Amino acid sequence: MLRKDMHEENRLGWNLATEAHNSHKADQAGFFRNGGSTLYPEEIALLGDLSGKSLVHLQCNAGQDSLSLVRLGATVTGVDISDTAVEFARRLSDESGLPATFVRSDVYDWLDEAGRSGEQYDIAFSSYGALIWLSDIRLWARGVASVIRPGGNLVVMEFHPFAMVFSDDWRPAYNYFDGTVGTHFETGVGDYVAMSGEVLAPSGYLEGVQNFVNPHRSHEFNWSIGEILTALAEAGLKLKSFHEYPYMNGAKLFEGMQGDADGRFYPPETMPSIPLMYGLVAEKV
Ligand SMILES: C[S@@+](CC[C@H](N)C(=O)[O-])C[C@H]1O[C@@H](n2cnc3c(N)ncnc32)[C@H](O)[C@@H]1O
Repeated sequence: MLRKDMHEENRLGWNLATEAHNSHKADQAGFFRNGGSTLYPEEIALLGDLSGKSLVHLQCNAGQDSLSLVRLGATVTGVDISDTAVEFARRLSDESGLPATFVRSDVYDWLDEAGRSGEQYDIAFSSYGALIWLSDIRLWARGVASVIRPGGNLVVMEFHPFAMVFSDDWRPAYNYFDGTVGTHFETGVGDYVAMSGEVLAPSGYLEGVQNFVNPHRSHEFNWSIGEILTALAEAGLKLKSFHEYPYMNGAKLFEGMQGDADGRFYPPETMPSIPLMYGLVAEKV
């Protein structure tokens, strides 16, 4: 069931969190002007050749990945509910000379309007901590399918819902089967850029905001893999590939994670391998 009231509380939290996150990132416009990219090889491989493609980047936050997609040749529209994220993305686009369109909207409102007005994209892309904010996965999948042209693809690169059952110190603490109920936190999104350090600030890490505590409640919906794949199938999106990865790109979400030189974070060596990330491509039939 769609919970717009909860989306609004999430918007307030994301507004403050986005400011804290960007406070740690040095000269981002210069980074992009010099050819920088914030994308990882995993999503670049799933996206394929982007030259001349139209792409909607759903829940694009402050636009760094969106502008990296522009650099790969796509014409990009980014959509996000956060006011500060979209303001930042527009400014970054201007200052970096990478043109893109950014829309501030609840993704459900945008999908509804774009679907009704017949907007069609070659690719819809969603990544790294986006699906967990969706209160109705089936409605989202139907909306996404409505804005992809026949033969076009949805590409998702996400943190694995199984990883989300763990507390910071790896104790099983949250329900895997949670999507229809949601988990509700008294504090909003934290400063995960400060937790991950330079790997999430490739333009250079600044001390920025210290000891950030988000005063807004947040609401997350941990959709299971089965629920996600079924929602896509019901919406007419045919699964072409599904990959699971034993690491997380750019996110040191749990204690003792070890990073490699490419920004991949693995669990401590004492743990068995578990899926921490997944990627999929589904075609609009
Ligand atoms: C972890 S970030 C995604 C990061 C993104 N992949 C990127 O390229 O930087 C999650 C984003 O989802 C957005 N969001 C949360 N709920 C939303 C909603 N209902 N509609 C649109 N955006 C939403 C937040 O504002 C936030 O920017």
